[in-house]
Amino acid sequence: MKTLSCLSLSGGQGKTSISLLLGRLLAQQGQRVLMVDADPQANLTFYLGHDVQPDAPTLLEVLRRQVETAAGIYPLASENLYLLPADEGLHQAQEYLATSGMGALALRYSLEAVGELFDVCLIDSPPQRTQICLSVVGASDWVLIPAEASTKGVNSLLRSLDLLEEMRRIRAFTGQVLGVLPFRDKWFGRSQATDSREAIAAMRQVAGEIRVLPSILESERYKQAIRQGRLLAELGYGELELPLQQVIEILEQV
Ligand SMILES: Nc1ncnc2c1ncn2[C@@H]1O[C@H](COP(=O)(O)OP(=O)(O)OP(=O)(O)O)[C@@H](O)[C@H]1O
Ligand SMILES: [Mg+2]
Repeated sequence: MKTLSCLSLSGGQGKTSISLLLGRLLAQQGQRVLMVDADPQANLTFYLGHDVQPDAPTLLEVLRRQVETAAGIYPLASENLYLLPADEGLHQAQEYLATSGMGALALRYSLEAVGELFDVCLIDSPPQRTQICLSVVGASDWVLIPAEASTKGVNSLLRSLDLLEEMRRIRAFTGQVLGVLPFRDKWFGRSQATDSREAIAAMRQVAGEIRVLPSILESERYKQAIRQGRLLAELGYGELELPLQQVIEILEQV
């Protein structure tokens, strides 16, 4: 199982949207995909249409090792797609992670138990630098950094790279950065908005040797696909899938 997380240390950078679209695309291509919702906002769980039942295990119980990992994984309506869900109670994992001594390795340890069952694991992370976030980084073979094509996005990228560097120094992150994915790149017809162009140029500088992928454009069409639980191609917008296809190609090569 290859584990890829979407990490970006600000709200609204596209982590959940990209996790969702990538997960559906991979599943449609025949890969067995485990989606992990590691954000107490639980947006991924919501968009995947999963209702967490009272007393049903979620990522919280898995991280605390109150249940086996497999007990917290639920098949979704779409073929090949599985979810380890969250609800707002996940914030309680903070204290456990901070005091258990497992910290950054807790999620990696939990996922190892199901590594043979899936081809790809996609993890959606919270926007803050919390213990849960550190645990996501610790579990990642690959990290994708979505960043809004704006000053806020550039700052989010900087903070995310700092965190990865710090964690790499203490050997808590042993994976690699797959790339930076500019999000909500705005165009007016054939002209790119100045803000978007400048932000993406700044991202290239900040990213250095790390690749900057083709952008996710500012478009209602992505939102439509997410809302309807459909693939962009199914809605007739296959060309908008290019950045996601590129992520998948890179994942396949490694
Ligand atoms: N291509 C797009 N163009 C414009 N808006 C989009 C696009 N794709 C997604 N959105 C919207 O952008 C918003 C932020 O996206 P998303 O929730 O994926 O970010 P996030 O990084 O997960 O945020 P958070 O850190 O709060 O979890 C959402 O409201 C989503 O519907
Ligand atoms: Mg999110």
